[in-house]
Amino acid sequence: MAAAHESSGPRRFADPAVVVQSWYVAARARDLPRGGVLRSRPTGRELVLWRGLDGRVHAADARCPHLGAHLGHGRVAGDDLVCALHHFRFGSDGALLEAPGVTSRPSCRVRTFPTTERWGFVWVWQGPRALHPLPGPATDERLRVLAFPEQRFACHHHLIAVNACDTLHLGPLHELELAEAPVVTIADDFSATMRLRGRFKTAWKRRVTGCNRHDFDALFTVSGGNLCWVAVAAPVPFQVIFAGRPDGATGSITRSLLFLPPGSTRRVWRVLALLLLLLKRDHDILDDLAFMRGFTDADEVLATFVRHIDAMPVG
Ligand code: FES
Ligand SMILES: [Fe+2]
Repeated sequence: MAAAHESSGPRRFADPAVVVQSWYVAARARDLPRGGVLRSRPTGRELVLWRGLDGRVHAADARCPHLGAHLGHGRVAGDDLVCALHHFRFGSDGALLEAPGVTSRPSCRVRTFPTTERWGFVWVWQGPRALHPLPGPATDERLRVLAFPEQRFACHHHLIAVNACDTLHLGPLHELELAEAPVVTIADDFSATMRLRGRFKTAWKRRVTGCNRHDFDALFTVSGGNLCWVAVAAPVPFQVIFAGRPDGATGSITRSLLFLPPGSTRRVWRVLALLLLLLKRDHDILDDLAFMRGFTDADEVLATFVRHIDAMPVG
């Protein structure tokens, strides 16, 4: 059944043994004041975050390469991090700058990771250098940002990011009837988009969401296997980012960020109704999903996203 969709390359989609290079939420920005040090495990790997006195955030492997003390006990000096145990001092690039009491300074360094700060969160790139910017609304868009509480799932985070790309489930589970075939575009090695238009089959669902006047019309961008950015054009304009990361051996955590244009309260209710109807029952089913590649010809959109993620570089 699935032979036409298979490839002989790597299969990184939903593989808990690898972490695809991407941006992962590491902390709330407010939890890391200037001079602050924080422990974080955005992808299961133990990291230390610190904010230099100049306000910039840095991320590094948590273990001091000297004798392995946790750098989370350390302190910030200028832009650098000083290990608590023997006061070895590491620069924001991970280089060892000072080793007090040591005559011949060792050449050890700590591995660092790129960071960025947006929408009230610190994001860490899982990999040596960021291969693309964090996707999302343009910085000059005046949008209200609402961060929902984290949600835990028992399944891999890739499955959550591509949930909407499983277009075959939109009718049976969400009663959403597609107005046309989804248009999929592979933007680059890290991102692919899907334009989706449709309407709810039931009248009350069309009414509460505003779909009685305009079809649901949205552009989904799946990036790095863990980020799904949805830009909804109609029936009510808003954007949302689902940012996933691994949790434990096979589970995941998703942080959802809602971006609202300045508008009326009624619009907010429509947005929430739409999200509720489109996400209803997904959580329960995803929690129990043991992903299999039994793709049919009707799963081609999902299979395209899965193959795309299969080939992404790992950290
Ligand atoms: S273990 Fe960090 S300086 Fe020695
Ligand atoms: Fe769904």
